[in-house]
Amino acid sequence: MSLLFSKTTLGPLTLQNRLVMAPLTRNRAIGNVPNELMAQYYAQRASAGLIITEGTSPSPNGLGYPRIPGIFSNAQIAGWKLVTESVHPLGAKMFMQLMHCGRIAHPLNLPPGARVLGPSAVAAAGEMFTDAEGLKPNAVPEAMTEVDIKTAIAEFAQAAKNAVAAGFDGIELHGANGYLLEQFVRPTSNRRTDRYGGAIENRARFVLEVTEAVIGAIGKDKVGIRLSPFGVFNDMPIYPAMEADYAYLARELNAFGPVYVHLVDHSPMGAPPVPETMKATFRSVFKRTLIYSGGHNVALAESNLAAGKCDLVAVGRLFLANPDLVARWKSGAAVNAPDMSTFYTPGPKGYTDYPVLAE
Ligand SMILES: Cc1cc2nc3c(=O)[nH]c(=O)nc-3n(C[C@H](O)[C@H](O)[C@H](O)COP(=O)(O)O)c2cc1C
Repeated sequence: MSLLFSKTTLGPLTLQNRLVMAPLTRNRAIGNVPNELMAQYYAQRASAGLIITEGTSPSPNGLGYPRIPGIFSNAQIAGWKLVTESVHPLGAKMFMQLMHCGRIAHPLNLPPGARVLGPSAVAAAGEMFTDAEGLKPNAVPEAMTEVDIKTAIAEFAQAAKNAVAAGFDGIELHGANGYLLEQFVRPTSNRRTDRYGGAIENRARFVLEVTEAVIGAIGKDKVGIRLSPFGVFNDMPIYPAMEADYAYLARELNAFGPVYVHLVDHSPMGAPPVPETMKATFRSVFKRTLIYSGGHNVALAESNLAAGKCDLVAVGRLFLANPDLVARWKSGAAVNAPDMSTFYTPGPKGYTDYPVLAE
């Protein structure tokens, strides 16, 4: 019997299966506002149990990339309503990923008056694409003041309320892949000497305060968090205390009780593997739903579920390329290969035009 294709629950929600569409930035939100094309794209993939949206900024300051959506204006709330109203009748539940890019940003991608912020004034190695001038080095962020930190926490809480107003079943905090929350956790990007820097109890403070604030705003059953222990994406090197630091986070997050933790393992994309001991720590310490993501085909998904290693499996690139991934995996049909050249380009090409199986 397939576990992957059987119903389950996520907090109070019933999911039609255990397959999650992973968050995928697609850069189709012209003017940072979701639109009909995006509603069509997500609706095509609504046979998932849960769809997690692309990274969506809670603040003008968090819009590091070109054409990514936000959830801080009325137009954005209205745009996202189009999306949830297209998806929900087709069966999937939907969480919005809140992504504040922090220092993974260039001012050319930000609206007037917005600021590139980070825990410390340390730039990430690497380049950022801008529509105006092509690739540019990542900006040196302004080190956030205590006021900036309070403001950002309030923006996350308001964004969570806005997501619920737009019809989402919940939000996922993007605590992974080198964005603002992880920038605070990691000692290479966080060089602060105040109560937000130094020991892990301090480096974890921002992410835990954000978690507490969004739970206060919309309730713990509507809040998940994505983490990437041992992830190196966006200039986040491995350091000796990594496993102990993330074990601390697992314990503290369990005390707040968000509905899920979503673990990233990007070793199938060439990143260092996440040690099995790290994953096992999350499984034993965190008592609610655990999502695995990274490199799953149907066999690996079924075996991880059957072994009880996780409760749900998130799939990124194959969902991007196969709107009907559930039907294809159920029937054993071949899958379309993702076209990397259209991952981040505007318009429908490589977005809403992947072929589906004939009925
Ligand atoms: C085009 C693209 C965009 C992505 N955007 C995001 C994002 O916005 N937020 C996030 O947490 N991860 C993002 N990821 C990572 C995916 O969610 C996922 O972890 C990764 O693709 C590995 O899973 P897979 O092997 O099933 O593709 C992105 C990946 C790709 C390929």
